[in-house]
Amino acid sequence: MPVATHRVSALTCRMTTPQFIQLYQHNAAAVAQELLQGLNAPQAFTSPKYLYDALGSRLFEAITELPEYDLTRTEAELMRLHSASMAAQLPRGACWIDLGAGNCEKAGRLLGPMGAGRYVAVDISVDFVRQALDVLQRQHPSLPMAGLGVDFSGGLPLPTELALDPAQPRVLFYPGSSIGNFTPEQALDFLRNLHSACGSAPGSGLLIGVDLLKDPAEMEAAYDDALGVTAAFDLNLLLHINRLVGSNFAVRDWRHLSRFNAPLSRVEMHLQASHAVTVQWPGGHRQFAAGETIHTENACKWTVPSFEALLRSAGFASTHAWTDPAHRFAVFWAGA
Ligand code: AVJ
Repeated sequence: MPVATHRVSALTCRMTTPQFIQLYQHNAAAVAQELLQGLNAPQAFTSPKYLYDALGSRLFEAITELPEYDLTRTEAELMRLHSASMAAQLPRGACWIDLGAGNCEKAGRLLGPMGAGRYVAVDISVDFVRQALDVLQRQHPSLPMAGLGVDFSGGLPLPTELALDPAQPRVLFYPGSSIGNFTPEQALDFLRNLHSACGSAPGSGLLIGVDLLKDPAEMEAAYDDALGVTAAFDLNLLLHINRLVGSNFAVRDWRHLSRFNAPLSRVEMHLQASHAVTVQWPGGHRQFAAGETIHTENACKWTVPSFEALLRSAGFASTHAWTDPAHRFAVFWAGA
């Protein structure tokens, strides 16, 4: 008993506390303006980031449990199966920078096995990662941790407050095939930015999960499941937009569509007006004809060679891919 008590206090002494830095400031007027610009475009569109309000985030978590949506499970399985081979490629003692960390679960499973030397959880708001980081800090009492609240969709800002060590290798971690939301041109820009965020310490690189091109019917079903969870996820966007711009979208006027655009190698989600609808908001309105759509998300699908080529054009010097036997998903290590 006295031994145990002593052990606990020794741990408590060495435990560091996470650092939290919030840079992104929500600007309601700018958000409304950006949304209305998309809603007024000939082909109406919205940024997929607006799918994730509190309910949308929970619906996305439910999506990851659906039989039709195997991305998350296949990726987790790849990370588990190939953990030894990944550990052999990745630098030890690295600063892990987790892009879109959320509940920090994916990176949390890797920090120990990969011998991380620091952990930085990046999300739009540090409030999303605060609780998860406090829990993770208890599991890794002496690992320095930080939460960084930034919008990294246009590139990753690394503020001086983080005091990144230029001599410490960096592992940028971008799982879940979130890269698929970008067009190939945007993805190239974004990856170039990540390449420069790797810094100059030898061994640095990017660990990224990418969904692969497969049977169109299967890809469409992954974004239009039988239970209707993805439809709810997409339609919930209308309720979020109503709060953000003061519009009067009625969910019942719209239906969810998922379609594979073969020339652009992407699954598109759209909300389609079931009949002619007029939507109003302060200072404006738009009429949608029956069948007209709002394009709400792209999920680009890649092949192993096409994504390796993209990583190379973004400046990465080496690539290694791990895939499942059916080539449904790939995890890439791209050495800076
Ligand atoms: C979180 C962007 C990777 O595109 O597969 C899932 C989002 N949308 N079902 C994806 C999503 C509809 C997801 N990403």
